[in-house]
Amino acid sequence: MKTYLVTGGAGFIGANFVRFMLGKEDCKIVNVDALTYAGNLDNLTGLPQDRHIFVKADICDKNVIDELFQKYDFDRVIHFAAESHVDRSIEDPEVFVRTNVMGTMNLLNTAKKYWQDGDGYKKDKRYLQVSTDEVYGSLGETGYFTEKTPITPHSPYSASKAAADFLVLSYYDTFKMPVIVTRCSNNYGPYQFPEKLVPLMINNVLNLKPLPVYGDGKNVRDWLYVEDHVKAIDIAAENGRDGEVYNIGGHNEKYNIDIVKIIIETVAQMLPESDERKSKISNDLITYVADRKGHDLRYAIDPEKISSELGWKPETNFETGIKKTIKWYLENTEWIEKITSGEYQNYYSKMYANR
Ligand code: NAD
Ligand code: TYD
Repeated sequence: MKTYLVTGGAGFIGANFVRFMLGKEDCKIVNVDALTYAGNLDNLTGLPQDRHIFVKADICDKNVIDELFQKYDFDRVIHFAAESHVDRSIEDPEVFVRTNVMGTMNLLNTAKKYWQDGDGYKKDKRYLQVSTDEVYGSLGETGYFTEKTPITPHSPYSASKAAADFLVLSYYDTFKMPVIVTRCSNNYGPYQFPEKLVPLMINNVLNLKPLPVYGDGKNVRDWLYVEDHVKAIDIAAENGRDGEVYNIGGHNEKYNIDIVKIIIETVAQMLPESDERKSKISNDLITYVADRKGHDLRYAIDPEKISSELGWKPETNFETGIKKTIKWYLENTEWIEKITSGEYQNYYSKMYANR
């Protein structure tokens, strides 16, 4: 039975990964998460207690991470923990460098210390860095990000992720450490914090609140259902080649404004006739607001390498994925109400006051 160290497993993609892995195979997961505003223990209910060990800790804490490596003989490190929201990185970049860069270095150093065996490493160990297509910067109207696209991040978030990627790959080049980097496009699905486009729009539609579209809404993102992402991570961690980067994406590019309109239409369709909101939901909720600073125009992934080398393919198309996602938010009103009370309201009233 493999033992995983998963970081950031109380966040959106991490929680989906933990749920997928514990359902799929007889593994043990030690889940380290600092429970920042984005981490939530409600994302982890119903998991088998004997195989899921939750540790509330900061990945930058050298003592805690060292103690965990001493206590558990980890076979895999799957590193999700990060500050992940571009808008927040524009407001306060420093915490992004601390968590995303220094936190990654702490994990690398500790894994290296415990996995080293003479001149090499203990058998079948692997560190996987969960990264993002945003490290490649922005595309024009055409073309795709491949693993060879130059790294040219534009936001403090993507710059901190790029720095971490370089560090991880340097541990392969310098120390021959068994590492892999995956770079995925925008995810959507259950448990996503309602600061990102898809859950924010679903939540605002359900509350009949304005839908803030940045700029002209013509920026393009390449959307992947979260379950397809976590499956790709699992495949890459098992069968990928050390020192390699794998792009993950499903060729599903859409303008932001089209995503917003699809959400409006689908939520309205899915609400029962008896729901008073149904007749009030329309495109009139769309509100164009000031553009994000340094807003990347277009992201689009070429997933050829992971498809041909590791046999990964996305299984959920956008039409199905967005319905599953909206259904989840409709069925989990308590989750979203809890998350969007208190601090969340303060953050958004300040943020939109600035636009
Ligand atoms: P998220 O913000 O939902 O979750 C991040 C988690 O990390 C939270 O549970 C938070 O509590 C935890 N965390 C933050 N700082 C920490 C620290 N110092 N120590 C320990 N835990 C800490 O993020 P997400 O959307 O699930 O993204 C997960 C990873 O995937 C990130 O590395 C992100 O860069 C990457 N990624 C995200 C997307 C996307 O569309 N969301 C796409 C590609 C890659
Ligand atoms: P986001 O979900 O923050 O992901 P990322 O910036 O990492 O791609 O944003 C996705 C796109 O949606 C991005 O072009 C910014 C835009 N956007 C809005 O138009 N309005 C919003 O309220 C948010 C959160 C994002």
